[in-house]
Amino acid sequence: MITWKLIFIIAFIRFTTCQNGLGYKTPPMGWNPYNAFNSSFNDTLIRQHVDIIVNQGYLAAGYRYINLDDGWQASERTKDNRLSFNSSKFPFGIKDLADYVHRNGLLFGIYSDAGIQTCGGLPGSLDYEDIDVQTFVDWDIDYLKYDNCNEQRRPEQERYKKMGDALNSATAGKNKTIYYNICEWGTSNPWLWGPGVGHSWRTTPDIIAFWPSIISIIDSQVRLTEYGGPERGWNDPDMLVLGFERIPYDEQVTHYAFWAALKAPLILGCDLRKVDDKIKALILNDDIISVNQDPLGLSICQVYYKTDNDISFDIWTGPLDDGYVAILFNRGIESKSITLDFKNHCRLDGTIEVYDLVNQLSNGNYANNYTAVDIPKHGVEFIKLIGGNNFDDDRPCLNYS
Ligand code: GLA
Repeated sequence: MITWKLIFIIAFIRFTTCQNGLGYKTPPMGWNPYNAFNSSFNDTLIRQHVDIIVNQGYLAAGYRYINLDDGWQASERTKDNRLSFNSSKFPFGIKDLADYVHRNGLLFGIYSDAGIQTCGGLPGSLDYEDIDVQTFVDWDIDYLKYDNCNEQRRPEQERYKKMGDALNSATAGKNKTIYYNICEWGTSNPWLWGPGVGHSWRTTPDIIAFWPSIISIIDSQVRLTEYGGPERGWNDPDMLVLGFERIPYDEQVTHYAFWAALKAPLILGCDLRKVDDKIKALILNDDIISVNQDPLGLSICQVYYKTDNDISFDIWTGPLDDGYVAILFNRGIESKSITLDFKNHCRLDGTIEVYDLVNQLSNGNYANNYTAVDIPKHGVEFIKLIGGNNFDDDRPCLNYS
């Protein structure tokens, strides 16, 4: 159960230790090539994505980081120990690309690794933190994803803090913050030490674009929902796999609803040149994005769980700045109806308007409860509750501690 004392203590630690980038009030939104292209990306592909993001409504919807992943680097450092770029993939260099990104009103992110080599075997930043941050600052980056391969068995906290300190020193006194994404896959409980070191921390191994991976990540977040928030930083259950054709539409809706309401960073990972209109409309759904970018910044938590072979389902709820949000989640393989009890699952009473966030329409007013009918296999009804009276600040989260 979240306690305000805990929030205050973590916010205080963060305020006193992390000068680089206070003020990430909401999770970052952007695009990264890894899920669709692995390390096979180049200058042309990135610029194409910049153009799509700007011209096809993604920037207007809030997607504003363009991040490189593993594979931008040259295979060796330069003579003066600097990281350099792969010049066949990036013939104009990284600064030129960053300038293009910035000229288009976007922010630019880069990738490195808290080990001697990245996961793809390219030079890592371990023990080169200051010099690498200098290079990144020279290139005017706005975001660093910092991975965890080839770590020489040195403790996570030490390695990640060293990079955080390097970012703090390089940006101190400048009107510049660099978003710092700790990508250590949840191995050393980074939700406990990440606040004050970085702005978000991966909570899971890599996502894969199929249902078993999506549902196992959702399940792994059950115990972590209290750890993210403004002034603390964000749980990062990995980048989105929206837009991958092999994932059925209803499962994509479930994926997006959870990432939005868990207050996860929304980093798209698909080939935006090939997204069909239905998925594009889902990605650009401003009601779903508003849940993610809600100023209160609190994650939903699980409030009900029923497991009974193929009819298992669960209910997650959480407060918004201007209402409440709920996910009624059908885990089973047959369609099913699920009832949300306003008092037990949300601590709300009175008359409540139920707004369908995916279809963007009001389902009408209800008292006491609301039944979502025929939720499809692996699907959700993702709703906002408007009005009513929140009669108890203690949330009804299931207690897993
Ligand atoms: C790790 C990270 C991924 C990706 C790859 C790149 O697996 O978790 O997100 O960055 O490395 O090699």
